[in-house]
Order: sequence, then structure tokens, then C-alpha cells
Amino acid sequence: MKKIVVFLGAPGAGKGTAAAAVAAKTGAIHVSTGAMLRDALARGTPAGLEAKSYMESGALVPDETLCKMISELLAGTADGATVFLDGFPRNVAQAEALYALAPAADAQIASALMLDVSKEALLERLGGRRTCPKCGAGYHVKSLPPKKEGICDACGTALVTRADDRPETIAHRLEVYESATAPVVGFYEKAGKLRRIDASGSAAEVAALVEAAL
Ligand code: AP5
Repeated sequence: MKKIVVFLGAPGAGKGTAAAAVAAKTGAIHVSTGAMLRDALARGTPAGLEAKSYMESGALVPDETLCKMISELLAGTADGATVFLDGFPRNVAQAEALYALAPAADAQIASALMLDVSKEALLERLGGRRTCPKCGAGYHVKSLPPKKEGICDACGTALVTRADDRPETIAHRLEVYESATAPVVGFYEKAGKLRRIDASGSAAEVAALVEAAL
């Protein structure tokens, strides 16, 4: 049986940072749907090209594309693995689909972790984010700077600002979060799976809280 842990939270809450840190420590598999779509776009696959306009505007990519992606990924994961889903489900339809598709992949949803952060902190985190376009490592100009300014510690590539971290796109992503994704929190609360994490502390503090909640 595979175990799924869902990471919830607004754009910039630190889902990817916490999931990557705890996965590296525990051996869990970190799956970021945003990273998968950016990779598909960079490789010019049909899924990536379809996702382009949605991602650039901060809208959600169609559910069908995401559900197919997650279904294939879970099916190809080794038995006994723990999978951290970062960025999926993103609306109640995707949350329902995950319950429907998990049994076929011999997977079950263990918990959903909601990373709570103030709006000021979200904007500060998104505004200073830098990402490695080659290996996907994430940084922040103040809270998580690379050793050499603008260069990835892991692979030496020049860091970039994500295309959807422009102020107008951030504003739209936050609106989409409130209307489409915030209801997913109530969905998992009703299912008795929700754990709330105070994600206002440092990246190391948040990772420790996430690990303790698993
Ligand atoms: P996605 O990549 O999932 O973006 P997101 O949900 O908006 O989340 P972010 O990656 O922006 O934030 P995060 O919470 O992971 O924060 P991070 O750890 O980087 O999705 C992008 C797009 O893809 C969507 O808009 C949509 O178009 C599409 N998409 C993806 N999934 C989809 C789905 N299921 N359905 C439909 N469409 C989908 O941290 C942010 C910054 O803060 C970093 O600089 C980091 O270093 C810093 N930081 C992190 N933690 C801390 C901390 N504790 N203290 C200080 N700084 C911190």
C-alpha cells in the first residue's frame, strides 16, 4: 500500500520548501504538480503546451490533465512509498478524483497538511523567490539565499524568477486560491484528515512541524 500526504496552502505558503526538506529526510517522494507542468512546458510536450496559457495567467490547468498525471504517477510508484502531493488537489473536483483514483494505484490518503501563513508573509515569500531552472531547487533572496548570489548551490546554474511571480499574476493566483482551493481544506476537515501547521516560522521550523504531523 502507498501512502499519500497532501500539502495544502496558498501560493507562497512554503509547501514546496517544506515538502522537499521533509522528503529528503524521510525518503518520501515529493511530487510538485507545478514543477511537473513547468518541466513539461520546458520540454514542449503536449501537456506542457496546453498548460502554458493557464500557468502564465495564474489560472488552473484543466482537471483532466492533472488527474491523468497523478494517476500515472501513483501507478508507477513503488509499493510502500509515501508520496507528498504538493499542488494537488487544487479544487474539490480534484480532491474527489483523488479518492476515486487512489485505490486502483493501491494508495490511500493518510493526511492533508494545511500550511497557514499570513497574506503579508505570502507576498514577501513570493516576491523574493528564486528558482533553479535546471534542478528545480528553490531559494529566497532573504530567508534562504544561495551561497553565491544568483547561483544554484546544487548545480551552479543561474537562478531565475518564476514567470508567474509577477505582481499581477500573484494577485490572480491568490484569488484563484481563495475561490477554488480554499474549499479543499474544508473537504479534508470533514473527512477527518486535516492537520493545521503554523507555517509562519523559519523553513527549518516549518519542516520540523510537518515531520511531527506525519
Ligand atoms: P505551483 O507551482 O503549485 O504554485 P503554487 O501553489 O502557487 O505554490 P508555490 O509554488 O507558488 O508556493 P509554495 O507554497 O510551494 O512555496 P515555496 O515553497 O516555493 O503551481 C503553479 C501553477 O501550475 C498554478 O498556478 C496552475 O496554473 C498550475 N497547477 C499546478 N498544480 C495544479 C493543479 N493541481 N490543478 C490545476 N493547475 C495546477 O516558497 C515560496 C518562497 O518562500 C520561496 O522563496 C521559499 O524559499 C520561501 N520560503 C518557504 N518557506 C519559508 C519559510 N518558512 N520562511 C521564510 N521563507 C520561506
